[in-house]
Amino acid sequence: MERAHWSSRLGFILAVAGSAVGLANIWKFPYTAGQHGGAAFIAVYLLSLLLIGFPVLMAEILIGRQTQSDPAGAFKQLGGSRWGAVGKLTVLTGFIVSAFYSAVAGWILGYFVETLRGNISHFQTVAEAGAHYTSLLQNPFWTVGFHFIFMALCVSVLFLGVRQGIERSCKVLMPLLFALLVGLAIKGMTMPNAGNALHFLFSPDWKSLTPIAILSAVGQSFFTLSLGQGTMVTYGSYLKGRENLIASCVPVVIMDTCVSLLAAIAVFTIVFSVGMQPDSGPGLVFHTLPLVFSQISGGFFLSILFFLLVSVAALTSEISALEPSIAYLMDEWRWTRRNAVIAVGCGSFLVGVPCALATSVFSNVTFLGMNILDMLADLATNIMIPLGGLGAVLLVGRVWGVTKALRHLDQGLPPKMQKSTWLHAYFWFCFKYSAPFLILFVFLGALGFFDWVL
Ligand code: PHE
Repeated sequence: MERAHWSSRLGFILAVAGSAVGLANIWKFPYTAGQHGGAAFIAVYLLSLLLIGFPVLMAEILIGRQTQSDPAGAFKQLGGSRWGAVGKLTVLTGFIVSAFYSAVAGWILGYFVETLRGNISHFQTVAEAGAHYTSLLQNPFWTVGFHFIFMALCVSVLFLGVRQGIERSCKVLMPLLFALLVGLAIKGMTMPNAGNALHFLFSPDWKSLTPIAILSAVGQSFFTLSLGQGTMVTYGSYLKGRENLIASCVPVVIMDTCVSLLAAIAVFTIVFSVGMQPDSGPGLVFHTLPLVFSQISGGFFLSILFFLLVSVAALTSEISALEPSIAYLMDEWRWTRRNAVIAVGCGSFLVGVPCALATSVFSNVTFLGMNILDMLADLATNIMIPLGGLGAVLLVGRVWGVTKALRHLDQGLPPKMQKSTWLHAYFWFCFKYSAPFLILFVFLGALGFFDWVL
C-alpha cells in the first residue's frame, strides 16, 4: 500500500497546528500563566519553546520524514531494535493520552450541548455553577456518553484518511477556531476592567517565578506541541522529502503560541470584567466561566462560542493522539486503515471508560491519592511524554547523528538557509545539549527530585 502524504504545505501546517492547539492552550495556559507571575512565566515559556519545544518538534518531524514510517518502525530504522522499543513506548503513550484526553474532551463537548440548551447561563453563585458541574460529572451516562460521541467523531474523521480526513478537517476547523478565538479576545478587550486584566497578565512578577513555575513552563511547552508521544513523528512521516521544514514548522509554533496568548487574554478579560480571578483546574472552565457567562450581557452566545472553540481544539488534538497507533498497526502489522481505525478507536474508548467513570462509579478507586483519570494523565504527562521526547532527541543527537540529521534537514531548504552556520549551530546545540538536559530537568522535577530545593 502506498504511503499517504499531505497534499500541501498549508495542509501540513494546519494539521500540525491542529494537533498542537488543544486543551493545554485554551484551558491550562491562561491559569498557569496567571498563577506563576504572568509575563515572567510567559518569558520562561518562550525561552523553553526556543531551547526544547521547537528543536524536539523538528527532531521528531525529521525522524518521521527520513524513515517514512510509524514511530516504532522509524526508531528501529535509525537506531536498531532497542530503539524500536522506545518508538513503541511513544506509540503507547499516544494511545494512553488519546484515552484520557477523550474522556475530558467529552465533558467539554457535553458542556457545549449544555450551553445550547441554555443550562449554564443562569448561575448566581460559584456554588451553583459548581453543583451543576458535580451533578453532571457524577452521572456515568453523561460522562461515558459524551466520551463515546467525541471518540466517534474522531474515528469518523480518521476513517477518511490522512488527506481526506485529518488534513481536510483541520483546514476547516483551524480557521474556525482562530475566528472564534479572535472574536472572543476582541469582545473581552471591550469589557470593563480589560486594562486590569491585561496588566495582571502582562506585567512580570518575577517573585512568583519559583522553580515550580519554571518547571511547569518547560512542561507546558512540551505538552502543548504534542511532543514525546509519536504524533509528530507520524505526521512527519506523511511529508515528502523535499519540504522546507523550517517554513513548515516555525508557523506552527507561532500559531500555537498566539492561541495560548489570545486564550489567556480572552479568559482573563472576561473573568476580570465581573471582578473575579480565574480559578485553576476544572474550576476555571466549569465553574468560573459559566458563572461569568451568566452575569454578562450576551453571555449565552459567548458561552456557546467558547465551548465550541474548546471542543474544536480538542477534536483536532485527539485525532493526532490516535494516529500514531493507527500508523503502527498499518505499517508494522500491515492492517488496513479501516481495521486499524476501528481497533484503535474501540481500544482507546474502552481504556477511556474508567477515566470517564473516575468522577462517579470509580471515584473511590484511587492510587497514591489520585483517581484513575488523574493517574493516567499524570503518568503520561510527567513520565512517558518526557521519556519519549528525550528518546527522540537522543536518537537524533547521539545515534542517527546531528550531522546526518542536519543534512536531511537541508533537503528542501533554500540555499541561503543550507549555508547558514548559525542555523546549523542552533540545532546542533539544541539536539546535543539544551533539549536533552532540559528534558531531563523536567523529568526529574516531575518525579519530585528537586522537592528538597523548592
Ligand atoms: N497538544 C495538545 C494540547 O495542547 C495535547 C496533546 C498532546 C494532543 C499530545 C495530542 C497529543 O492540548
